[in-house]
Amino acid sequence: MNLPKKVTIIEVGPRDGLQNDPSIVPTDIKLSFINALKAAGLKEMEITSFVSPKWVPQMSDASNIVKATYDQSRNIVLTPNRKGVDRALQEGCKSVAVFVGVSNTFNLKNINKSTAESLKELQPIIAELKEKKIFVRACISTSFYCPYEGKIQMDDVVALCSSFVEYGVDELSVADTIGMANPQESFYLFSKLKELFPDTLLTAHFHDTRGMAVANVFAALQAGVDRFDTSAGGLGGCPFAKGATGNVATEDVVFMLEQMGISTGVDLTRLKEAVQLIKSHISRSIDSKYFSLSES
Ligand code: HMG
Ligand code: MG
Repeated sequence: MNLPKKVTIIEVGPRDGLQNDPSIVPTDIKLSFINALKAAGLKEMEITSFVSPKWVPQMSDASNIVKATYDQSRNIVLTPNRKGVDRALQEGCKSVAVFVGVSNTFNLKNINKSTAESLKELQPIIAELKEKKIFVRACISTSFYCPYEGKIQMDDVVALCSSFVEYGVDELSVADTIGMANPQESFYLFSKLKELFPDTLLTAHFHDTRGMAVANVFAALQAGVDRFDTSAGGLGGCPFAKGATGNVATEDVVFMLEQMGISTGVDLTRLKEAVQLIKSHISRSIDSKYFSLSES
C-alpha cells in the first residue's frame, strides 16, 4: 500500500462550514471556534471569505475575523475577484485562495462569471499576489460532477489546473463539490494531477453528500495525495451548488489516518471541544461518525 507517514489537514470549517448554515454565527463565536481548532493542532485553515455580503451574508464579518486572527499558522482567506483580493491585502492577509469551477454553469451561478472570464480576471491578480510573496491556493470546484452539467471530463480539470500552475499558484485544492465522486474516479484524477504537477502542493477537498468521502480520501492517499481539506463536525456546503452537503468531517479523517499510523498532528479530544463549542450556534446537526460514537 502506498501510504505517507504524515498528512496535512487543512481545516475549512470556519469558511466552508459556516458559509452555508442558515444561522449567522456571531463573530466572537467564530473566533472562539477558530482558536479552539488551532488549539487542536490545525495549523492551516480557511478562516473566512471576502465575497459579496449580499450573496453570502454569513461571511460579511471577514475583515473582523482577519484582524483578530494573527499568528504564524497559515490563515487562508477565500476570494473570487479583484475586490475581494484588495480587501484581503488591506487586512494584511498572507494566504489567499481563489476559486473557480470547471463547470461553466456552476461558475456562473457561484461567481456570476464564466470560467474563462474568472481565469482572465485572476491571472494578473495571481501575478501581483506572488510578487507580494503571498501564498496562493486555487480551489477547483466541480472537478468530478456538476449539479447542472453532470459528469465533468478529466481533460477539462487538467486544463484548468494547468492554467493555475502556469500563473504560479502554490497549491491546487481540487474539489468534489457535490460529493458524487467514487474512489476509482478520485484515484485516477489525483494520480494524473500528481504526475502532471509534481512541484505544486496538491490537496483533495471532498464533500460527503453520499457517504463516500472517507473512501475518497483513502483513494487519493493511494494516488500520493498527502493534503486534505476537511471540516470539523462535517459542516459545510456551497450555497450555489444544489444538493451539496458538508465536507468530510475532520475527526473522521484524523481518526482513520491515525489508526493507520499516519500522523496528522491533530488532537481529537481538543477537536471535540471545538465542535461542541460551535454546535449550539448552527442550525444544522453535526455530521460526525467518530464523535457520535463516543457520545453513545
Ligand atoms: P456580482 O453581483 O456579479 O458582483 O457578484 P459585481 O462585481 O457586479 O458587484 C456587485 C456588488 O458586490 C457591488 O457592491 C460590489 O462592490 C460587491 P454594491 O455596489 O452593489 O454595493 N462586491 C463585493 N463585496 C465584497 N467582497 C467582494 C465583492 N465583489 C463584489 N469580493 C460576486 C459577483 C463574485 C461578488 C458574487 O457572485 C459572490 O460574492 N460570490 C461568492 C459565492 C461564494 O462565496 N460561494 C461559496 C464559496 S466557493 C465554495 O464553497 C467551493 C469550495 O468549497 C470548493 C468546492 O467545494 O467546490 C471552495
Ligand atoms: Mg467546498
